[in-house]
Amino acid sequence: MKFNTPATTNPIDQLKVVGHPLDRIDGPLKTTGTAPYAYEHHEGVANAAYGHVLGAAIAKGRIASMDLSRAKAAPGVIAIVTAENAGRLDKGSKNTAKLLGGPDIEHYHQAVAVVVAESFEQARAAAQLIRVDYVKADGAFDLSDARKSATPPTDTQADSARGDFTAAFAAAPVTLDETYSTPDQAHAMMEPHATIAAWTGDKLTLWTSNQMIAWGVDDMAATLGIPKQNVRLVSPFIGGGFGGKLFLRADALMAALGARAARRPVKVALSRPMMFNNTTHRPATIQRIRIGATPDGKITAVGHESWSGDLPGGGPELAVQQTRLLYAGENRMTALRLAVLDLPEGNAMRAPGEAPGLMALEIAMDEMAEKLGMDPIAFRVANDTQVDPEHPDRPFSQRRLVECLQLGAERFGWSARAAQPGRVRDGDWLVGMGVAAAFRNNLVMKSGARVRLDNKGMLTVETDMTDIGTGSYTVIAQTAAEMMGLPLEKVRVRLGDSSFPVSAGSGGQWGGNSSTAGVYAACVKLREAVAQKLGFNSADAVFANGDVRLGNRSVPLTEAAGADGLSGEDTMEYGDLSEKYQQSTFGGHFVEVGVDVVTGEVRVRRMLAVCAAGRILNPKTARSQVIGAMTMGVGAALMEDLKIDKRLGFFVNHDLAGYEVPVHADIPHQDVIFLDETDPMSSPMKAKGVGELGICGVAAATANAIYNATGVRVRDYPVTLDKHLDRLPELS
Ligand code: MOS
Repeated sequence: MKFNTPATTNPIDQLKVVGHPLDRIDGPLKTTGTAPYAYEHHEGVANAAYGHVLGAAIAKGRIASMDLSRAKAAPGVIAIVTAENAGRLDKGSKNTAKLLGGPDIEHYHQAVAVVVAESFEQARAAAQLIRVDYVKADGAFDLSDARKSATPPTDTQADSARGDFTAAFAAAPVTLDETYSTPDQAHAMMEPHATIAAWTGDKLTLWTSNQMIAWGVDDMAATLGIPKQNVRLVSPFIGGGFGGKLFLRADALMAALGARAARRPVKVALSRPMMFNNTTHRPATIQRIRIGATPDGKITAVGHESWSGDLPGGGPELAVQQTRLLYAGENRMTALRLAVLDLPEGNAMRAPGEAPGLMALEIAMDEMAEKLGMDPIAFRVANDTQVDPEHPDRPFSQRRLVECLQLGAERFGWSARAAQPGRVRDGDWLVGMGVAAAFRNNLVMKSGARVRLDNKGMLTVETDMTDIGTGSYTVIAQTAAEMMGLPLEKVRVRLGDSSFPVSAGSGGQWGGNSSTAGVYAACVKLREAVAQKLGFNSADAVFANGDVRLGNRSVPLTEAAGADGLSGEDTMEYGDLSEKYQQSTFGGHFVEVGVDVVTGEVRVRRMLAVCAAGRILNPKTARSQVIGAMTMGVGAALMEDLKIDKRLGFFVNHDLAGYEVPVHADIPHQDVIFLDETDPMSSPMKAKGVGELGICGVAAATANAIYNATGVRVRDYPVTLDKHLDRLPELS
């Protein structure tokens, strides 16, 4: 089915099941610990051996020699795979061959061997007996140095411009020119990257933890040089991904190679200390922002340049993305510059682009409002735009940023905020409030599903869509129940298996809207099959209460299904609606902090998010997504920071003791409000993404609240107490 005209009224609009705050249907499996995660599959892999991955001990250079003799002789060892004996590895869409390093080493903890043994402990112990001699090469590990040699990236839009930024900025009566920095960050999901690989002849099955099943199949097949049909990926439950599991990683490749060498199924989990340097991270940025405005607060010039780094052949952090779309202004420019760094691969992490981009832009907007003597909400409202400001002939499909900010201000008690910073005290606490706009693009992705109705009235949905903790199972079940007029209990959802139709997968906050749209399309086919069987006109048939009705004739679906059942399969594809209309999601984040006047310690006291993201398919799961994202935003504001050893070239704090993320005690009361809206341009579901919108702007709102509390502006994240302690107001 092709979606190329705005959605009209359809069965989803009944909202009998969709739009309700239903519990997750996979909840009991999660809370009882019976949902099988990647490392826990037992069926068919009773004989599994254990693989332990050895990571490179240098950041750049090559392996001069490797001595495996002691490891081979160690107890329980079955096989050792290195680049020497792995056989030919080809590039996937990403350079997946590099998941196994050697002789060249591209980054610290790049896998150089997998040791397969009878037990996990034996594999780990033997891996320590491998002797590797390296020849080190010099590497670049410091973005502020490498920035000088950064160049425009080639595979993405590096620059954008409209009007004459330079002249307009020079002429503007009020200007800001500041530079901000965001650090490298880790996904730090709960479940490590893990895979069980089993070969049956030349066919490979991988039980793994992967957000994008079809990409994983393609990349594994390409890397091993085997047909795609010979690779099956199974990933029904995922303990968090945040973008770190979008692509095939070393656990999967090393398990596949280990299992081939051992002629046994092999289980590989990356140890926590391996994950930070072996896999991907959100790259650090340096961002220069210039804004020029008239004294009454109209932006006349806005410029945003961002520098980030990656391994050779990598890509930039798209930190200027929101600045191309968020505020009006006749004269504008953005630029991305990419430096070569020999740190581990930088890649997507929750709201890549906007999350770090807004960390800078939304502080700049706060600073500019202060220069103008304007309230920061009023300044944003004055510069709202209903069209893409770089391409004014392209309207937004929906854009209710102003309402998000105004409703949030009212609910949060914004009017009580003191415009003058450093003036509100609560005992030892300096108290402040901050705001930031939330913005994240809404992508729509082709997505397929099949549905089968049996003679017991059970409907089974199958799609390779994944649930990374987001609620996919539940919103998919709600969609199918709504379409077929069945109660939720009559729907069974099976996800995350490459033997199911290819879906949009979980990424870029497109999963919820796109995957349910695919289920919608499959259900339309099934409704047609039911109607055709009964001689009904499918356009007029009504599916409700387990029956299908036409006029005064009503047939139970159990009967319509017949002994063999009926099925429907389809893929929702998209025309050019998202080119004609800019589709984005919007919100306002509000944060109140206390800063200890003696120690400089920051505590978040209250948070509110107001989101406009199309139809909310399930307010409970959506709220959980936003709360989780707000929590992650607090981490970005106050804690998260991969510290680089700039001599050796690796992330030092590579475990959950050293890489700090918020815990319950760090997070106060959080509120989420969704504006009641539907977006007919997004899909027949009229929904949009929300899981990434929730993080976008949170860190800046927090930083702005800290400034409002202290009067000390920190432009380098995270805002740790050492960065403002010596400038706090005098004790009184
Ligand atoms: Mo997302 S960072 O595309 O999982």
